[in-house]
Amino acid sequence: MDTNLDPLAALRNEHEEIRAVISKLKGYLKKITSASSDEVKNNLINQLNEISEFMNKDLETHFKREEDALFPVLGNYIGIETGPINVMIIEHNHCRDLSSGFKIKINSYPSDRDYKLLIGTGSSLGQLLSEHEDKEDNILFNMAEMHLTQDEKRDIAEKMQTIN
Ligand SMILES: [Fe+2]
Ligand SMILES: [Fe+2]
Repeated sequence: MDTNLDPLAALRNEHEEIRAVISKLKGYLKKITSASSDEVKNNLINQLNEISEFMNKDLETHFKREEDALFPVLGNYIGIETGPINVMIIEHNHCRDLSSGFKIKINSYPSDRDYKLLIGTGSSLGQLLSEHEDKEDNILFNMAEMHLTQDEKRDIAEKMQTIN
């Protein structure tokens, strides 16, 4: 099946992009504790700010593609209110909260210079998000492969392309 028409392959590709950003995030957070000068710290803050923008825009689009295109159809087979889809939605919301907290800490850094809370929030976000995408790749998407018909996959892929 063409990747454009295979929603699970498309979402797995997005997971790879997200993993690359998480790994950058972890690297910057590690460096910031040992940053020797304010200049180096400010540069790292700028890079973290770009990551925060990715989390607030691209990651949000990814979540919406899962929530509005994949989950409603897969939910017909495995339920939405309870079980794995419910857990995934709770984790999306937890990531959203951490992501807005992270943005707030980045914005307030120039005045409060509080990088401890910034590192704490950023690390929690990276950790939760990485475990979340692993669960989808290894459990939820395999359930989707088992249940979804070719027609359903095509409909999901078409719906996904309208969510940007
Ligand atoms: Fe997800
Ligand atoms: Fe995902």
